[in-house]
Amino acid sequence: MRRLTVAGVRLEPQLREMLKEPAQSLRRGGLVAFPTETVYGLGANALDEEAVRRIFAAKERPRDNPLIVHIAHEEQLRDVIDEAQPLDADAVRLMRAFWPGPLTLLLPAGAALAPSVHPGQPLVGVRMPDHPVARALIAEAGVPIAAPSANRSGRPSPTTADDVEADLAGRIEWIVDGGACPVGVESTVLLLEPDSARILRPGGVTQEMIASVIDRPVLYAADAFDAAAAPVAPGMKYRHYAPNARVHVWWGDPAAIDEAMRAFLLEEVQDGEPMVPALIAPDDFVRRFGWALSEHRQAALPASAYAEELARHLYRLLRAFDRAGATDVLVHGVDPAHGLGAAVMNRLHKAASGRVRWVG
Ligand code: TXA
Ligand code: MG
Repeated sequence: MRRLTVAGVRLEPQLREMLKEPAQSLRRGGLVAFPTETVYGLGANALDEEAVRRIFAAKERPRDNPLIVHIAHEEQLRDVIDEAQPLDADAVRLMRAFWPGPLTLLLPAGAALAPSVHPGQPLVGVRMPDHPVARALIAEAGVPIAAPSANRSGRPSPTTADDVEADLAGRIEWIVDGGACPVGVESTVLLLEPDSARILRPGGVTQEMIASVIDRPVLYAADAFDAAAAPVAPGMKYRHYAPNARVHVWWGDPAAIDEAMRAFLLEEVQDGEPMVPALIAPDDFVRRFGWALSEHRQAALPASAYAEELARHLYRLLRAFDRAGATDVLVHGVDPAHGLGAAVMNRLHKAASGRVRWVG
C-alpha cells in the first residue's frame, strides 16, 4: 500500500498532476482511499464489477449493503443513472442547491454500473463530494467512483488518513492523505417518494435545508433515532459506528446531565470490570464538571458550535479513546431537532446501541 500526502493543496490542476498514479490505479481496478468533506471513502471504479467486489472483501462488508457512487461533475451522471427515465424535478432542484456537498440522492440505476454497487436495488445512491482532493481524483480517474466509508465494517468511519490506515493497511493500493475531514459524519441519504422525501440517514445537509428547496414534506425514516425500530435502508441493520468501549449519551439540561454523569461514574464498576471512563462534552461543561478524568480520555469541544464540533471529532475521538483503554465513553449529546444535531444523535444512537437518555 502506498500513501500520498496532498493536504493543503487545493488547486485542481496541481492536484490532478499529483494524483495521476492513484487515479490510474482506480482505472485499472485498484482500491484507493481518499478524503471527502464528510469522511474518508474507499474508492473503486463503479463500472468495474471485479474492482467493486474487492471493496466488500477489504472492508469485510456484507454483500447486500449498497454503495454510494461519487461523481466530479454533472456529465458523469450519464454513466451512473438510467437516462431513459425522466429525472425527478425535485432531484434536479436538490442537485442545484446542494451539489457539490454531503447529500446522496437515490436515483434509478444505469445499466453500465457494476451490479454489486446496488445489489438487488433498482436505485443507486449518487453524490458529488465537496472536497477538492476527491473531485480532482475522480476527474483524473475519468470514471464514476463507488466508495463506502473507508473503515472495516462496523467500526467508526475514518476522518483522518491514520484512521484509514489502522483499518485497511495491506488491503488496498493507495491512501491519499488530504488532512482531517471538515464535516466528520457521513452524507444525508435521501429517497424521493411520490408524496414525500424520506431521510434514510441524516447527515450534513439537514432536514431544514432540504425542506427549503422542495415542496414535498421531508420526513425521517422510522429508525433514524430509535435503535430498536426496524431498519429502513439496506445496510442500516448492521452494527454501525461502534468503538470497543460502551457509549452512553445524555442530552437536555446541562445541570441534569452533570448530575446523571456523576451518578453513573460513582457506580465505578460496569459488568463486573473496573470502569475506565472517557468524556466528550462542551468546554464550559467540562470546566464545571464535578469529576476529574485523565487528560487522554477527555475532550472539551468549543461550546459555541458544539453540534458541529461533535460531528467533526466524534469518530476520531471514539477511536482514540479505544486506544487509551477506555471501557465507557460518556457523551454530552445535542438536540436532534436542530441542524447537524440530527446526524450526530443518529450516529450516537447506533454507537450507543440505544443508551441515549434525555434528562431535564
Ligand atoms: O458521506 C458519505 O456518504 C460517505 C463518503 C465516503 O461519501 N460514504 C458512506 O458510504 O458513508 P457507506 O457505504 O458507508 O454508507 C452508505 C449507506 C448504506 O449503508 C445504505 O444504507 C445507503 O447509504 N444506501 C446506499 N445506496 C443505497 C440504495 N441504493 N438504496 C438505499 N440505501 C442506500
Ligand atoms: Mg459506512
